[in-house]
Amino acid sequence: MSVRHATPTLSLSQAEELVKKHYKLTPSELRHLPSFEDQNIYIAAVEGGEYVLKIINSENSKDPILFEVQTYVMNFLHDNGFPSPRILKSTTGQAMILKDIDCGSGLQKYLMRLLTYLPGIPISKAPLSPRLLYEVGQTAARMDNILREVEHPQLNKLQRDSFTWSLSNVPILEKYIHVLDGDPLQEVVRSVLHQYKTTVSRKYPRFRKSLIHGDLNDLNVLVQADESRGYRVSGIIDFGDMSFGCSVYDLAVSIMYMMHLYPNPIEVGGLVLAGWESVLPLNEAERDCLFWLVLCRFCQQLVLCLFLSPCYPENQDYIMRLSKRGPLILHKFYEIGKEQVEKMWFHTAAQFNDRN
Ligand SMILES: Nc1ncnc2c1ncn2[C@@H]1O[C@H](COP(=O)(O)OP(=O)(O)OP(=O)(O)O)[C@@H](O)[C@H]1O
Ligand SMILES: [Mg+2]
Repeated sequence: MSVRHATPTLSLSQAEELVKKHYKLTPSELRHLPSFEDQNIYIAAVEGGEYVLKIINSENSKDPILFEVQTYVMNFLHDNGFPSPRILKSTTGQAMILKDIDCGSGLQKYLMRLLTYLPGIPISKAPLSPRLLYEVGQTAARMDNILREVEHPQLNKLQRDSFTWSLSNVPILEKYIHVLDGDPLQEVVRSVLHQYKTTVSRKYPRFRKSLIHGDLNDLNVLVQADESRGYRVSGIIDFGDMSFGCSVYDLAVSIMYMMHLYPNPIEVGGLVLAGWESVLPLNEAERDCLFWLVLCRFCQQLVLCLFLSPCYPENQDYIMRLSKRGPLILHKFYEIGKEQVEKMWFHTAAQFNDRN
């Protein structure tokens, strides 16, 4: 895993100039948004509209075709009625701009895109209800259904076979498991890796393959208050981890992150699954591996964040935000075991679908 990319640090006045010059928009408000590897700047325009200027880190900026395909897919989702950001064209008709910019340590090349800003707050800040969890699953499955339809001559750019966070690459964790030396959770992670290499790998050929989002986390699902029914999902953002995988991965990833937000984490899976299956019913192999896939994502989050954390001292709050509850939930979830968890999930999902 490449550890540290040079994160761009444009000033707000540099961003203002770029937006004026390349998009003929006059910012009335600019502010920094949270970022991990790239830089995200919120912009409201005098002409109307709210946007995010996304400046790609210098390393990834060397691969414009990847971002061209990513842009195509994001616009495809938006144009098919999905609540995801749309990428705007510059005054010269380009969906991204490559600029030499000095962020304080000499000129570097950066790719930039202007995205529509979606209304709402991250789901991590909203009270979760069973209905909202159902909607998370339903929205994720709707998205994957649209992603199955995308065609582009360079779609293979999104293959990304060695992507560390992909649930197809869980055994990579063995390289980093030393971060848990002395921690009783190391045994749990080892046991989950063993199950991955035996049970999950055997069933993998029967998982439905598809382009997937890959990172339906607590910050990438946006929600908005609705007068009659509480909070509703208002959008999905952050397509930076999009790659070819299996659609059940998006379900497993969303269950895992939502478990961190709900008072009774074990209940989450059944509710998200009910919403997912209202659009994309699982096949037998996917159903049988869901428990292990959720556990695998817990292990990825735990091990990779512990490994990455010292490399990003300024981004500790972001990287370690789940580190308090995460290990406790992982331990309990593992202890309860597949049989009991599945019984609860499948019963809840069936009940929820009967009621609604
Ligand atoms: N189009 C958007 N609409 C609304 N909010 C957004 C949008 N894009 C980004 N944000 C806000 O900025 C935050 C970071 O954006 P995003 O999730 O795209 O980046 P990241 O992958 O987490 O970090 P990086 O881009 O550095 O890798 C989001 O959690 C959200 O609060
Ligand atoms: Mg994000």
